[in-house]
Amino acid sequence: MTTHDITNRNAPSDRAQSGAAMTGAFIRRLDLTTFRNYAALRLDVDRTPVLLAGANGSGKTNLLEAVSFFAPGRGLRRASLPDVARLSDGVSAPGWAVAVQVDGSHGPVALGTGLEARPGGAAARRAVRIDGEPARGQAAFAEHMSIVWLTPDMDRLFMEGGTARRQFVDRMVYGFDAEHARRLSSYEQAMRGRQRLLRDGVGDTAWLAAEEESMAAAGVAIAAARREVVARLDAAIAAEDSVREEPFPRAGLVFEGEVETWLDVEPALAVEDRLRELLARNRSRDAEAGRALHGAHRSDLAVRHRTKDMPAALCSTGEQKALLIAIVLAHARLLGLARGAAPVILLDEVAAHLDEGRRGALAERILALGAQAWLSGTDAGLFEAFGNNAQLLDVSSGRVSAC
Ligand SMILES: Nc1ncnc2c1ncn2[C@@H]1O[C@H](COP(=O)(O)OP(=O)(O)OP(=O)(O)O)[C@@H](O)[C@H]1O
Ligand SMILES: [Mg+2]
Repeated sequence: MTTHDITNRNAPSDRAQSGAAMTGAFIRRLDLTTFRNYAALRLDVDRTPVLLAGANGSGKTNLLEAVSFFAPGRGLRRASLPDVARLSDGVSAPGWAVAVQVDGSHGPVALGTGLEARPGGAAARRAVRIDGEPARGQAAFAEHMSIVWLTPDMDRLFMEGGTARRQFVDRMVYGFDAEHARRLSSYEQAMRGRQRLLRDGVGDTAWLAAEEESMAAAGVAIAAARREVVARLDAAIAAEDSVREEPFPRAGLVFEGEVETWLDVEPALAVEDRLRELLARNRSRDAEAGRALHGAHRSDLAVRHRTKDMPAALCSTGEQKALLIAIVLAHARLLGLARGAAPVILLDEVAAHLDEGRRGALAERILALGAQAWLSGTDAGLFEAFGNNAQLLDVSSGRVSAC
């Protein structure tokens, strides 16, 4: 089922424990065309951490967002594609483009994406190109490079509803299993289709059954992948040296829900039957509720502070941020070991939340990972701990220059 093995839970732990640096996929060059506040940009970088310093509104997050379009989904802001096109003097550019040259898992490659204006008034569409050739969808980028991120929007991840946490887990799964994104969209589509039929009182049970069949097949595959990746991550964090825990606490993670509980005791095919039957039995309740009351969309990620044995939601703001950073770094390391190349890591405004000691520890961990990390901050001083091991760039009104 997977592009990269997620079943062998123990294999890479020796290297993980020793903290040996591995090499990561990295971006050599980034080109932007009418992307947000950038009219045009060409940026050449090396494999070391890319530190973006600049005033509020200068274009730091926009750069991270541009890179995030090479992961499945709509980028780190979950923006609608036309909103990304450069708006200047009240006029929006007809499209936008982001291109990167990457030293990826299979060597050098050119990746490109964007919203492509089409002649004759046809609707603009998302373009996906690999070495100049059109690719089926952006899931194809995952073969060359995986990307993980942490943004200020995620600060309330443990406090809010389950949707954001499921998306967080889904992004973690993408790096291991490029098919995950496609399964998510077929699940969503089938769930919406079924709900529409129920709402309209369509009595065609064959049609309903077909939607429920799709929901069950995709839903169980989604639940299995989330449960597996989270369990692997939990095991990898548990195996980390607890003496080195400070200042980023170790998290305990479990992906919980009805379907996941069934998967603990039954093979996937039996769980599929169970979910399909349950959906069929619940048609009138779901019609009344206006949504499906069972399925993969009801499950959630539970996180606790391992040492304090405290649910993350009850931890302090600073502890929650530190837990999140620890999870993202542990995931990056696990992914690196599974793929043989660390992911590109995007950390928006992370340094600003940390005291000096924690900033030092973060720099040390990023450098040990051997991953190309892109960090943003309003002040170059926030990045002092990287010393000469990183490239410091100044961002100013949609322009980027070396400091
Ligand atoms: N489609 C667009 N066209 C033109 N400009 C845009 C567009 N979308 C956003 N912007 C502008 O881009 C600028 C930079 O935004 P960005 O979020 O990258 O800033 P930032 O450097 O991260 O700032 P902060 O430190 O406040 O987070 C903002 O002034 C924003 O209004
Ligand atoms: Mg920003």
